[in-house]
Amino acid sequence: MKNGRITPGSNLAKGPFHFLKIMRASSYVILILLLTWIGQAGCSGPQTGTEKRERFVDSLLGEMTLEEKIGQMTLYTSGWTITGPALDSNYRQYIIDGRCGNIFNAHTVGYNMELQKLAVEESRLGIPLLFGYDVIHGHRTIFPIPLGEASSWEPALAERSAALSAREAAASGLNWTFSPVADLSRDPRWGRIAEGSGEDPLIGARFTEARVTGYQGSDLSDRNTLAACLKHFAVYGAPEAGRDYNTVDLSKRTIREVYMPPYQSAVEAGVATAMASFNEINGQPATSSRYIEDILRQEWGFEGVLVTDYGAIAELVPHGVAADSAHAGELALKAGVDMDMQSGIYMKNTTRMIREGILEEAIIDEAVRRVLRLKYDLGLFEDPYRYLDAEREKEVVHAQELLDHALEAGRRSIVLLKNEPFNGKKLLPVLKQPGSIALIGPMADNEVDIMGSWHAAGDPGIVVTLAEGLKNRFPGSEIKTTEGCGFYGKDRSGFSEAVRLANISDLVILAIGENYVQSGEAASRSDIGLPGVQQQLADAILKTGKPVVTVIFAGRPLTINRIDENLPAVLWAWQPGTRGGDAVADVLSGAYNPSGKLTVTFPRNVGQIPIYYSTKNSGRPFDADNKYTSKYLDVPNEPLYPFGYGLSYSEIRYSNLELNTHEISFTDTLQVSVTVSNEGPYAAEEIVQLYTRDLIGSVTRPVKELKDFTKIKLAAGEKQVVTFFLTADDLRFYDIDMNFIAEPGDFLVMTGPHSADLLSAEFKLEK
Ligand code: BGC
Repeated sequence: MKNGRITPGSNLAKGPFHFLKIMRASSYVILILLLTWIGQAGCSGPQTGTEKRERFVDSLLGEMTLEEKIGQMTLYTSGWTITGPALDSNYRQYIIDGRCGNIFNAHTVGYNMELQKLAVEESRLGIPLLFGYDVIHGHRTIFPIPLGEASSWEPALAERSAALSAREAAASGLNWTFSPVADLSRDPRWGRIAEGSGEDPLIGARFTEARVTGYQGSDLSDRNTLAACLKHFAVYGAPEAGRDYNTVDLSKRTIREVYMPPYQSAVEAGVATAMASFNEINGQPATSSRYIEDILRQEWGFEGVLVTDYGAIAELVPHGVAADSAHAGELALKAGVDMDMQSGIYMKNTTRMIREGILEEAIIDEAVRRVLRLKYDLGLFEDPYRYLDAEREKEVVHAQELLDHALEAGRRSIVLLKNEPFNGKKLLPVLKQPGSIALIGPMADNEVDIMGSWHAAGDPGIVVTLAEGLKNRFPGSEIKTTEGCGFYGKDRSGFSEAVRLANISDLVILAIGENYVQSGEAASRSDIGLPGVQQQLADAILKTGKPVVTVIFAGRPLTINRIDENLPAVLWAWQPGTRGGDAVADVLSGAYNPSGKLTVTFPRNVGQIPIYYSTKNSGRPFDADNKYTSKYLDVPNEPLYPFGYGLSYSEIRYSNLELNTHEISFTDTLQVSVTVSNEGPYAAEEIVQLYTRDLIGSVTRPVKELKDFTKIKLAAGEKQVVTFFLTADDLRFYDIDMNFIAEPGDFLVMTGPHSADLLSAEFKLEK
């Protein structure tokens, strides 16, 4: 022990941690000492892991000054300059002074080792730092954006992406990711729709849970795992007018039924931390809202660390609930916010407020306990350098397994939207190598935008662009590439070269869409058409009369009516990540038969938003022959592509929807079977979806709600019977008094390839 500091060898904590350390290094004698110590400490019987941790945390807390406690509740960012990482010199001093216990945006073993040493060797108590980072869809190796990955309808795929991201990030010195994003959204104007799993609560819950499990594994102290962070709590995905950070004002029922399930699933999966969102929700900014204590902690039992979003405590002032920053800090503390990301308000004001009796120290102690427990669970007290192994970093970063998975996840996230004959023949798959291919558009050979928003530390140097992917798949074709135009402005000077290349080629691949900053945070759009003059580029290419396959890369649904009307083959690639070029080329060539389906509705125009499949019927449902029904004068009610939609190169047919009974009680299970046949020439995968409708409820119910899904493999010509099981639990909803119940009565059960093409049957839930 030097200067009373806790280092791996010190005995300051005078607790089990200290004894354990010695024990690992030596023998039974120490074990006896440990047991004696436990006896002296008044314990009967051996301590559980939790008891040991609590003793450790309590004894450490007992040694901390108020400033050091607040330090554990403070999180500051590292900078990153062209020459590499750079920490503000004030922050360096704060770490040494024990006034900053957590850093984000610092990564790589070399750099984080330097910072960890400051904390462990230079600060009085030597408490290790947490290193947080936005590992949203991969770290150095980038997987598809989460909305894209959700199109696989395979939570297990997302779990593996999260597990591999955790392994790579942990090998780069990190121990905490600000992910998963559980924000459900029904508004594609909102740029952060890219980061979530789409519009449906069941899909959102299954993917969020899978990602938490993937990041955290079963043991947080495993060097291959990270602490996950459920974000952004709550209802960040429903800002008015789709404008990021804007007001959220929704009914309690909608919040509970639609927006909460993904957040709750993360808590049930044991997520270690959560982040409060920037928005206000029904009159209270999330950072000072009762949702944290009432729902997250009390109702769902979340025991982890609650961190703010970037500088969000300071934003309580412009939100209009705090008079000044000190008041803002007080509100956040009282709401149960444990850690202040970047505003520095806890650091500046809390000590004084406690001395003046405005706040009780017990609030601080509880928050600090949560942070120390997390550090303990991560194994940082046992070995603060456990994530800082330069050899391991070299081995794991960009490892083949990650690159292979990036390809697999990329292929599985792609959705085939259209594949109509051109001159009597479907263009996809491109089975015969064309003599020449013109690859046209700003996404043709683009290694940055293909990674999507929040690619953070994603490495463009290892990205396979579409041009490269096509060269790998079509080695016998001559491939000529030109951008034609950019993502912004009106410059059409590249059109003539694009048209020239199209005219001299056998096949045109048009690679267009959004760049990586046109979706994501602070990237809301009021017009979600193709940006810049890309539509005009598509028109010009179409006029050549050449066969054109359109591949669209984007972070959100776009209104692509003209493309849909005029171009024969359309592939939606989202932003597929590091192996994106290979993934798209595999789908184009038929090496992979596309199996993705949309988890978000594609509108025809912005006026249809919010648009989602699980709408209510209204008192005047659409009727083409009656003007006075719920509809538009200028656009159909139907979306361009419905929720659950996506094609295969094969032909999939649904038949024989059968129920084992047409009446169930509250304790019965209904079996719903359907025959799914592959009538096309290729092996295929199919996502089979199950929906219900409560026909008469004490409150109005949606016309369809997804209740289950599965993905099956079918050889060419194969048939399979898929069976789903439903119980009364699956039919619950919030009644007028907000009780979560199922009501007896008549229901429809529906299944099919997507939400607008379903077979249906009726059943009754009996009292
Ligand atoms: C975002 C969060 C992110 C944080 C830290 C904020 O602007 O809203 O999602 O985790 O920055 O980078």
